[in-house]
Amino acid sequence: MADGAKLLLCLLLLSSSPCCSSSELDVQCLKALYRSVIDPNGILKSSWKFVNNGITGYTCKFIGVECWHPDENRVLSLRLGNLGLQGPFPQGLQNCTSLSGLDLSSNNFSGPIPADITKQIPYLTSLDLSYNSFSGPIPANISNMTYLNTFNLQHNQFSSEIPRQFDSLDRLSSFNVADNLLSGPIPSSLQRFPASSFDGNQGLCGAPLDNCPTRRRRRHRLHRINEESSIGAAVGFVVGFVVAFYFPHWFVFSKRLHPYIFQI
Ligand SMILES: *[C@@H]1O[C@H](CO)[C@@H](O)[C@H](O)[C@H]1NC(C)=O
Ligand SMILES: *[C@@H]1O[C@H](CO)[C@@H](O)[C@H](O)[C@H]1NC(C)=O
Ligand SMILES: *[C@@H]1O[C@H](CO)[C@@H](O)[C@H](O)[C@H]1NC(C)=O
Ligand SMILES: *[C@@H]1O[C@H](CO)[C@@H](O)[C@H](O)[C@H]1NC(C)=O
Repeated sequence: MADGAKLLLCLLLLSSSPCCSSSELDVQCLKALYRSVIDPNGILKSSWKFVNNGITGYTCKFIGVECWHPDENRVLSLRLGNLGLQGPFPQGLQNCTSLSGLDLSSNNFSGPIPADITKQIPYLTSLDLSYNSFSGPIPANISNMTYLNTFNLQHNQFSSEIPRQFDSLDRLSSFNVADNLLSGPIPSSLQRFPASSFDGNQGLCGAPLDNCPTRRRRRHRLHRINEESSIGAAVGFVVGFVVAFYFPHWFVFSKRLHPYIFQI
């Protein structure tokens, strides 16, 4: 980076950092998250000890908390994977105003992603909710998280369609919705990801998976199958009836008649 740019960056960081108002919001964020999450193994409880000593930066040593700078509380990312956590999607994140990464993977979180998630944490570059029990639709306005480049929802219970608006997430370099309950067509700009990003959803279709049936063709085919099977049933019924009526001995004496029938 050019020296001028470096200096500018330093000035920006300095001007936005030390005097705690944004830092204090980040502490509020962590407190709200701590209150909203169920922590059966007591992992957060043993590490997230909030104090009122006016020292900034102590929250940066909490398990799972990464700060932009160790001497201030501004949270860069929350890495809370595999801690046995439960409960709904964590609350209070809008006060982590500089959050760029959120990893809640391999816990037991459940319930929907809040519809206003983009308003809460607009600058995310990485969102990993994989291996939980989240459910409901994937909020369409995640498409407004324009910086998102890693997005993993693998192995949850998300249902409904992948929002078509996700076509506008043009920075995505990693995307995975495998093992959910999704259906409908895969948005075209996501078709560059491999089938393994979409496997394990019964109703998803289109590249890189199988073609989507067009509605007309499907209805036509159903119609035809119906027609064929009802004609088949009618013919079978009539033939069976006629045969049984006129040739009852075929049924009664069928064993004895076998040789004759074969001769005929
Ligand atoms: C954010 O922090 C402010 C100031 O402490 C607080 O009043 C507000 O309730 C917090 N918002 C959330 C969503 O926790
Ligand atoms: C996950 O949470 C559900 C309730 O939300 C509970 O029934 C289940 O036992 C939990 N599973 C684990 C592995 O903690
Ligand atoms: C996101 O979309 C939901 C409906 O899909 C809407 O209720 C909500 O207000 C939207 N939020 C933002 C921030 O656009
Ligand atoms: C969200 O993204 C859509 C396109 O996907 C755009 O039309 C809309 O204006 C965006 N909303 C905001 C609040 O940025």
